Amino acid sequence: MASYDLIVIGSGPGGYVCAIRAAQLGMKVACVEGRDTLGGTCLNVGCIPSKALLHATHQLHEAEHNFAAMGLMGAAPRVDWEKMLAYKADTIGQNTKGIEFLFKKNKIDWLKGWASIPGAGKVKVGDDTHEARHIVIASGSESSPLKGVEVDEETIVTSTGALSLKKIPKRMVVIGGGVIGLEMGSVYARLGTQVTVIEYLDRLIPGADGEVAKTFQRMLKKQGLDVVTGAAVQGTEVLKTKTKVSYTLRKDDSAHVIDTDVVLLATGRRPFTEGLGLDAAGIARTPRGQIKVDARYRTSIDGVYAIGDVIEGPMLAHKAMDDGHALADMLAGHAAVVDYNLVPGVIYTSPEVASVGATEETLKEQGRPYKAGKVSFMSNGRAKAMFQGDGFVKLLADKDTDRILGAHIIGPYAGDMIHEITVAMQFGASAEDIALTSHAHPTFSEAVREAALACGDGPIHA
Ligand code: NAI
Repeated sequence: MASYDLIVIGSGPGGYVCAIRAAQLGMKVACVEGRDTLGGTCLNVGCIPSKALLHATHQLHEAEHNFAAMGLMGAAPRVDWEKMLAYKADTIGQNTKGIEFLFKKNKIDWLKGWASIPGAGKVKVGDDTHEARHIVIASGSESSPLKGVEVDEETIVTSTGALSLKKIPKRMVVIGGGVIGLEMGSVYARLGTQVTVIEYLDRLIPGADGEVAKTFQRMLKKQGLDVVTGAAVQGTEVLKTKTKVSYTLRKDDSAHVIDTDVVLLATGRRPFTEGLGLDAAGIARTPRGQIKVDARYRTSIDGVYAIGDVIEGPMLAHKAMDDGHALADMLAGHAAVVDYNLVPGVIYTSPEVASVGATEETLKEQGRPYKAGKVSFMSNGRAKAMFQGDGFVKLLADKDTDRILGAHIIGPYAGDMIHEITVAMQFGASAEDIALTSHAHPTFSEAVREAALACGDGPIHA
C-alpha cells in the first residue's frame, strides 16, 4: 500500500493531463490504468488512430482526384490495408509511449489494473489498496448501445471495431450522422466502400450551425456517401452473407431494409464508470449516468473529483484536458477557470468542420441581435490552388458592440484556423479587431479576416 497526494483513475486526455500538471505542481501522483498502454480511448481507439486513417485516405483521395489535374500522372496508389493498419498502430504506439515517457519524467506511478473506490481516500487496484488525499475519476466514456443492434466488433462495430476491420468492406451502414459516423464513414468512403449514413434527426451533426450542416451534407453526398435523414433504425439481422438493417422513415412511417456488410453504430457515447463502485461509495450521478460535480469538479464525496466524459459537458478530449489542467491547479491552491462557451469543436473530415461559440440558431433563440460575416473559400487564392474552394468561414458578431459571438468554418484546416477566433473571443475581441490584424498572404486564414471584414464594411475579395 502506498500513499499519494493524488490518484487519478484513467489515463486518457483528462486523466494524464491532470496527473502531469499535478506532478509539475509538486504533488506525489499515481494514475490507474487497466489497458496495456496509456492514453485512454483517445490515443488507443479514438482521436489518434482515426486521424491516422483520415490522413492516409485523404492522400489516396488526392491521388485519385487531383493529381492528374496538377500534372502528376500515373496510376493511383493501391491500398495495402494491412500496411495502413500497421501505420495506424505505429502512430498509436508513438503517442502512448510518449505519455509513458512523460509519466516517468514527472515521477508519476502507473498503477496497472482497474480501480475501485472502497471509500473516501482509498483506491483499490487488484489486491492493493492505496491511500490518497485527492482522488480524480477520469474514466471516460463508452459507445452507447442501441436496442435491436448487437455489437460484436466484427460485423456490427463501434468506432473501436471500425478502426481495425479485417478487410475493407464493400458496403457499410453507419447508424448516427454525428462526429464518429461522419469521420469513419468518410474514411471508408474514400477506400471505396459504399457508405450509407442513417440519421434519426432531419439533419446531420445536430447542434452544429445549420448552414454548415447543410453544406457538409451536400459535400459528403458529392464524395459518394448516401445520407438518409429522419430515419429510425429498428434493428439489425446478421445473416451468413449479409447483414440487414431495418429502419422506418419518420415522416410517413414507411419501413425500409438495407443490405450491408458492416454496420457502424455511432449514436453517441455514455460515461464509463463500471467497476468503480460509485453506488457503494455514495457518489451521486445525474439521470444520464454522469457523475455529479460542482464548479470545482467535486463529487458528493469529500476528496473525490471527476472530470472529462464522465461529467456533464461536451465529450471532447480537449475539454477533458481543460478540466484536468484546471483541477490540478485548483488542488494545488491556484486559481483556475475554464470557459466552456469557448471550447472549439472539430470534425476531422475533408474538408474539416470547426466551430466555437454560438450558432445562428442559438442566437435567434436567445433573441440576441447579431450580424453574420460569411466568405467562401472560392475567394481565397491558396484554397483554389489546392482544389479546396468549397466551403466558407462565417463569423457571428453582436450587432451593436461588434463583439465576436461565434464562428463556423467548413473548409481546409478549419480545425486549426478556429483557434485564431477562439483566442480573439477569449480576449473579448470585436470582429473589427480581427479585420485590422495583418494576415499573411496567401493563407487560408485570410478567409477569417475577410469574414471579419464582412461583419463590417465588406470583404475585399468578394
Ligand atoms: P454524436 O452525438 O456526435 O452523434 C450521434 C448521432 O446519432 C446524432 O446525430 C444523433 O441524432 C444520432 N442518433 C441517435 N440515435 C439514433 C438512432 N437510433 N438512429 C439514428 N441516428 C441516431 O455521437 P458520436 O458520433 O457517436 O460521438 C460520440 C462522442 O464522441 C460525441 O460527443 C463526439 O463529440 C465525440 N467525438 C468527438 C470527435 C471529435 O471531436 N472530432 C471524434 C469522435 C467522437
